Amino acid sequence: MAHRLTVWRAAQLLGVSRGQLQALVREGRLALDDGLVSSEQLLALYPQAQLEDSGMLERTQAIRNDAFARRVRERTLPSQEVLAQRLFHQSTELAEVRRHLQRYHGLVTGLRDRLRAETTWRGPQALADDIDRALGQVLASEVADPLEAMDDMLKLMSAQVTIRPSGHEFSVMGHDTLLQAGLKAGLRLPYGCGNGSCGMCKVRVIHGEVCRTQPFDYVLSETEKAQGYTLMCAHTAASSDLTLETLEATGPQDIPPQELVATVRSVTMLGADTAQLHLQTPRSHRLRFLAGQSVTLGLAGAGGDLQSTLPIASCPCDDRNLHFLVTRDQEGDFGAAVCAGLKSGTPVSVRGPMGDFVLAEGLRPLLFIACDTAVAPIKSLIEHALALEAAPAMALLWLATRPDGHVLANQCRAWSEALDAFEYTPLSHPDPQAGVTQVIESLRADLFAIDCDCYLAGPASFVSQIDAALMAMGVPSAQRHTLVLS
Ligand code: FES
Repeated sequence: MAHRLTVWRAAQLLGVSRGQLQALVREGRLALDDGLVSSEQLLALYPQAQLEDSGMLERTQAIRNDAFARRVRERTLPSQEVLAQRLFHQSTELAEVRRHLQRYHGLVTGLRDRLRAETTWRGPQALADDIDRALGQVLASEVADPLEAMDDMLKLMSAQVTIRPSGHEFSVMGHDTLLQAGLKAGLRLPYGCGNGSCGMCKVRVIHGEVCRTQPFDYVLSETEKAQGYTLMCAHTAASSDLTLETLEATGPQDIPPQELVATVRSVTMLGADTAQLHLQTPRSHRLRFLAGQSVTLGLAGAGGDLQSTLPIASCPCDDRNLHFLVTRDQEGDFGAAVCAGLKSGTPVSVRGPMGDFVLAEGLRPLLFIACDTAVAPIKSLIEHALALEAAPAMALLWLATRPDGHVLANQCRAWSEALDAFEYTPLSHPDPQAGVTQVIESLRADLFAIDCDCYLAGPASFVSQIDAALMAMGVPSAQRHTLVLS
């Protein structure tokens, strides 16, 4: 019988994006039954996942180019203790299944023997022959389902977590806590301190077991313990399958305002007048934000405090390391101070997050359009979308009007080379108005599909003209998301 899997798990096993499989479902090439797909169909669509012999482990080690073996090797193993617990749970499950099978086998052969003993008429004998034939077929022809075997193997190395009620799924790999793994997968999980003292990451374990990875100060009440509550930031998955109950943030309104002091890790000049500022938050005070949001940064300068409100250029999946693009002419003297160079360890106050330029839920292709350093929030959105693996395709059109040009060109080229479904179009023109015309012409020349979510960031005139062009092309307002940056 074919093994049935969620789309998310199937994507993990095949090494393709969830968006790719969802596109096959939409095209009617992959059937979805109660939210699940069958391994039979997956193997027909991806025959390269078929393993020809039963010695899968040997095969995965022996064939260096095998995609599955590569994914296995890429995974960091959890600690010995966690691995032992997962192995124990899986073995218990296996023993249970074996016990059931033996009982069923006993039941069937017992029935056959009773039928054989019945000699008065021919019907029972024929039935016994049928049972013999069926048993013979089962024992002789049942071939192991390769996807099921791969699933079992990966479950040991990385546990599979499902969040209720959203149904979102993610894997816990290596030494990650449940919180770290969920954030890496792009989920908007609730949390605060990240170190076991605030209790905001409390979740209820509905199915499966967790084990502690670090000590924590927050005290769960006896009632909470009895109801199965645990802290995501201090635990990892002890069983291969885990179901947790928690409410994820639905939008910016669910992210509380925060204030913290981060320190400068580095300032890297990406051009004569553009710097990348890398801040690191304290381990015990991270910034919870959504991709595409901004914060206000404060720097103690010679002439008083310098401030600037900037979009975060990094992904919320790494909430300790915050990246920003800063130009020399940034408001006040903030940009000049950063471009002049800041010593590693310089304190910078961070207030926020703010803004609603965030990824909308959905499975449409994503089109990003940016002008100059307004690519910063777009980069954050792209990284978040990549973590979610939900978009079937992504395209980035980036107009450079400043002499520094496409300051993150290497990153964009890397995305387009590494991902089949990522298209990068750099455009440049020193005249912003002529640049806008170029962007609009590119959209038309690309036979632009209107059924996508569009994210547009740049100066007011850039945003308003391109937004109007998208509207004229038929993109509904709910699919046009804009951010005006000066
Ligand atoms: S995030 Fe504060 S206790 Fe987990």
